[in-house]
Amino acid sequence: MGKNKLAKFANMEEYPHVFQYPFAVLQEKGFEMKGKWNSLFFKNDNPIVLELGCGKGEYTVGLAKLYPNKNFIGVDIKGARMWTGAKQSIEVGMQNVAFLRTHIELITHFFAAGEVSEIWITFPDPQMSKVNKRMTSTRFMKLYREILSDKGIVHLKTDSNFMYTYTSEMVKVNALPVLFETDDLY
Ligand SMILES: C[S@@+](CC[C@H](N)C(=O)[O-])C[C@H]1O[C@@H](n2cnc3c(N)ncnc32)[C@H](O)[C@@H]1O
Repeated sequence: MGKNKLAKFANMEEYPHVFQYPFAVLQEKGFEMKGKWNSLFFKNDNPIVLELGCGKGEYTVGLAKLYPNKNFIGVDIKGARMWTGAKQSIEVGMQNVAFLRTHIELITHFFAAGEVSEIWITFPDPQMSKVNKRMTSTRFMKLYREILSDKGIVHLKTDSNFMYTYTSEMVKVNALPVLFETDDLY
């Protein structure tokens, strides 16, 4: 592993707004902030918004600046990417941003039922050959439903025709209401 990557991982260990849990620890002890993100970390009652597959956290940080009255958590498995958003947000003292390094498949270990108000999925990999990794498959939608509040919303932004068409079909199959849809978004 390159020195640069090692330095980023070392930073991530130190950042108070970054949470990363080896699966073994999660299995043994569980995650102590599940159901308590607001009382233990954000210290307010604002809605919690996740960006799943946040990469460098561009949307997590950008949305958090736009909506200071919401709490944003970027989730991704790639720590070296997430480091960019983690560094930017801490350097300007943002209080409504956190990052969680985990597989999205484990998301229900980190959030209690109804704890999340909105989910953003921005430019996910279409995963054309791996159905079970597509972030808008029925399998993932079931996980989102578990942690979302009753009026919870999922936002999807994609530039992949495949992902757009696939998700539209999944929405129909799962009888989910569509609040807004466009195929021409800047
Ligand atoms: C194409 S990138 C998009 C990054 C970001 N949303 C953006 O718009 O720039 C997809 C990201 O999703 C993450 N990802 C994909 N599947 C994942 C999973 N099952 N669990 C955690 N992260 C995942 C990848 O690590 C990658 O950073």
